[in-house]
Amino acid sequence: MLIDGYGRTVNYLRVSVTERCNFRCQYCMPEKPFSWVPKENLLSFEELFLFIKVAIDEGVNKIRITGGEPLLREDLDSFIEMIHNYKPDIDLALTTNAFLLSDVAQRLKDAGLKRLNISLDSLKPDVAHKIAQKDVLTKVLKGIDKALEVGLGVKINMVPLKGINDNEILDLLDYCQKRNIKIRFIEYMENRHANASLRGMHGREILAKIKERYTINALGREGASPSFNYIIKETGYEFGLIDPHKHDFCESCNRIRLTAEGHLIPCLYFDEAMSIAKAVKEGDIKGASEVLAQVLRDKPKENRWKENPDDKKEASSRAFYKTGG
Ligand code: GTP
Ligand code: 5AD
Ligand code: SF4
Repeated sequence: MLIDGYGRTVNYLRVSVTERCNFRCQYCMPEKPFSWVPKENLLSFEELFLFIKVAIDEGVNKIRITGGEPLLREDLDSFIEMIHNYKPDIDLALTTNAFLLSDVAQRLKDAGLKRLNISLDSLKPDVAHKIAQKDVLTKVLKGIDKALEVGLGVKINMVPLKGINDNEILDLLDYCQKRNIKIRFIEYMENRHANASLRGMHGREILAKIKERYTINALGREGASPSFNYIIKETGYEFGLIDPHKHDFCESCNRIRLTAEGHLIPCLYFDEAMSIAKAVKEGDIKGASEVLAQVLRDKPKENRWKENPDDKKEASSRAFYKTGG
């Protein structure tokens, strides 16, 4: 079992397979072009897998593949298959923008993937274009339909932004309710790579919008998930709210993140990380396990997003595109 310095059990590893993305979402990517980490710095699937086996052997039972956009990495299904074959009962999931999904959904499912979390911030083509800085909506919706058709579990993530998509909260809720898939509304997390003019909506503002149409009851948090769940009284539909500015979910945080270059990151907010690259390149299982133990000892108590999200000093300097949130 993996226990951190605050006594929290860590059983969830998020693995980024590339920082590259085919979108440039305003809440995640810098406005100006920048250079990606060169491809030769990326760990191979075999190297990532060596670390994953160490983590599984020591207690990880939930793995999420992230990016950037993970579907940009060639042969991703073979990587999924490696993990699935090693431990078929692992909770194996992927977070994607779904742009490339419709063509590969079946292959991902066949490889052993169980479920997908998909970003969907708008149902209006021009607004989706504005947020992702690319014309994306048609392909994203096709990707979602295909994932459902092949039997993959699907959750939707929406980040409501003031003056951009804040008037679509109910539309997105109903889109998901109709398909019986869960939506989680995520408070925008200020970070120094995002468009500086963005203003997120506070959790209580998001809930107020939903209450314009529905009566809702709080259900509570699902285990160690950052999502706090609610149920709509009129329909029985359940949705989630991820509100990092409260950071009460940090108390039960169960996750660490691995970047495509091999940096093991104990907390989404902070830049601190330790590299497993040398260990996995040398096939050094003991070395990889030692880095893992050190990162667990160093895992911070909580994030530093504050209740007043307009205070820019509280913005994280972490690049979310390196770990897919
Ligand atoms: P489930 O296994 O389906 O619960 O997935 P998840 O919520 O762990 O994964 P997903 O990639 O969909 O995460 C949704 C978003 O929630 C992330 O992209 C982040 O923006 C946010 N989030 C997830 N984990 C954390 C965390 O540890 N801290 C903070 N502050 N936000 C998180
Ligand atoms: N604030 C909140 N959520 C974010 N994500 C990425 N950047 C941010 C941010 N700054 C979330 C998106 C996406 C997931 C990969 O990360 O909702 O679903
Ligand atoms: Fe855990 Fe850090 Fe996320 Fe808090 S912000 S839940 S400590 S990873």
